[in-house]
Amino acid sequence: MRPSLYLLTVSGVGYTLAQQTIYGQCGGIGWTGVTTCTSGNVCTYLNDYFYQCLPGTAATTTTKTTTKATTTAVTTTKATTTAVTTTKATTTAAGGTGPACVVTNYAQLSSAQANCMTITLSNLAMPASSTLGLTALKPSATVIFAGRTSWGITPNSGFKMMAISGDHLTVKGASGAIIDGSGASYWDGQGNGGAPKPGNMVKIAVTNSAFSDLYFLNPPTHAVDVDGCTNTVFNNIYVDVKAGTTLAKNTDGFDVANCVNVSFNNLTVYNQDDCVVVSDSNGVTVSNSYCYGSHGMSIDGGGDSGTHITQNVIFQNSQIINNVTPIRIKTDSGGEGTVENITWQNIVVGGTGVEYVIDIQQDYGNGGVVTNGVLVKNITYKNITGTVNSSAHLYNLVCGSGSCQSLSFSGIAVKGATGSNKCMNYACPT
Ligand SMILES: *[C@@H]1O[C@H](CO)[C@@H](O)[C@H](O)[C@H]1NC(C)=O
Ligand SMILES: *[C@@H]1O[C@H](CO)[C@@H](O)[C@H](O)[C@H]1NC(C)=O
Ligand SMILES: *[C@@H]1O[C@H](CO)[C@@H](O)[C@H](O)[C@H]1NC(C)=O
Ligand SMILES: *[C@@H]1O[C@H](CO)[C@@H](O)[C@H](O)[C@H]1NC(C)=O
Ligand SMILES: *[C@@H]1O[C@H](CO)[C@@H](O)[C@H](O)[C@H]1NC(C)=O
Ligand SMILES: *[C@@H]1O[C@H](CO)[C@@H](O)[C@H](O)[C@H]1NC(C)=O
Repeated sequence: MRPSLYLLTVSGVGYTLAQQTIYGQCGGIGWTGVTTCTSGNVCTYLNDYFYQCLPGTAATTTTKTTTKATTTAVTTTKATTTAVTTTKATTTAAGGTGPACVVTNYAQLSSAQANCMTITLSNLAMPASSTLGLTALKPSATVIFAGRTSWGITPNSGFKMMAISGDHLTVKGASGAIIDGSGASYWDGQGNGGAPKPGNMVKIAVTNSAFSDLYFLNPPTHAVDVDGCTNTVFNNIYVDVKAGTTLAKNTDGFDVANCVNVSFNNLTVYNQDDCVVVSDSNGVTVSNSYCYGSHGMSIDGGGDSGTHITQNVIFQNSQIINNVTPIRIKTDSGGEGTVENITWQNIVVGGTGVEYVIDIQQDYGNGGVVTNGVLVKNITYKNITGTVNSSAHLYNLVCGSGSCQSLSFSGIAVKGATGSNKCMNYACPT
């Protein structure tokens, strides 16, 4: 039996287009429509059921379709000398096969999740106050962001722009895709305060999943909230708030909480708050990443109430530039819990905006009131290099009485900092 194709919307269907337009379907089992793409796009294999027109050149054109021979296989794509990155779509992590759908309107989302294994969100413009909920996906589904994903302006701090949950998901961006938070319409210099703004662009709670090649532009406040994930990898994710240097605030890149065994590779974050901050998690690795203009790669231990445990975290092989506190552990004043086995290694710091290079603050949220309810233990700082502004301080270790233990420093060779070191309840490294 041949699986049926749930095709929600494909531009060109019902019209006699000779060529498929960008992000439209152009082949696959059951497909009887056009198999060539308009100039600048190439028909690209996503899975046996779905070939899609994606930006690229004719060199990699595939005209394979199992159903319909066509005599118009030759594309009129003009040769170009520009190197175009063509997203090579695969179904690796999830491996799910089944109907593929293109969603161009939010009203199609629930039917697509109920019926489709591959869902391409093509230039999806969500109305104001409408959450892009990808929380009913089939296990092993693939979601592809294509074109520009956007939302009508919703000045509501309770508004969730997007939520993703599920198991064995593959979530990725097509070449050139943008997830646009329209931050400039909200920024007022007051971040979480001031006029109401959505609290984050996406909340991700998944298991055994893979996210890659996503570009988040201009979040109103926090960008990516990874909360409650297990065995999941994030690759090549860009959070771009370069436009927010004067008015954006609290634009955290990645807030990672309640996660087990999650890794991040090749993150790029230009923003105005934490680059990556990890709390209440066990087993988080951040590698090969770049932070610019923010608060660095941080651990947040001991939140508001209850006991908070954050352990087994590695930040490595990364650059943290123009960050106020590139390497930081903050534990709430009055908080309780443990921060244990955390490593920063092979980190390059630099830039003019640095205040404290290696920072522990056990008075977070209540400056100056240092408490020892959170035990900070077995922390490794290894091979930290770079040049910072002369006004920077190398160490700011503000520990509660007896609550910093076994801090290990090796290969700390940061140049430039002439600010005096401040160490409380722990001896400054010499
Ligand atoms: C951690 O996650 C990775 C990738 O998701 C997975 O391959 C690995 O098996 C997981 N490790 C454990 C101990 O579950
Ligand atoms: C890292 O991610 C960026 C996008 O944020 C991408 O352009 C670049 O190719 C990636 N690097 C590698 C080595 O994959
Ligand atoms: C420390 O954390 C790292 C990273 O998660 C892990 O590989 C290592 O086994 C942990 N060490 C101990 C003693 O738990
Ligand atoms: C603390 O760190 C040391 C050195 O990395 C390691 O040998 C030890 O197992 C760690 N202990 C814990 C409980 O993480
Ligand atoms: C120290 O870190 C830098 C920057 O990540 C890296 O190039 C260098 O190889 C590291 N050195 C050692 C000894 O690991
Ligand atoms: C330090 O930062 C200040 C303010 O950003 C800047 O004016 C100054 O030139 C910087 N100094 C160095 C040595 O980079």
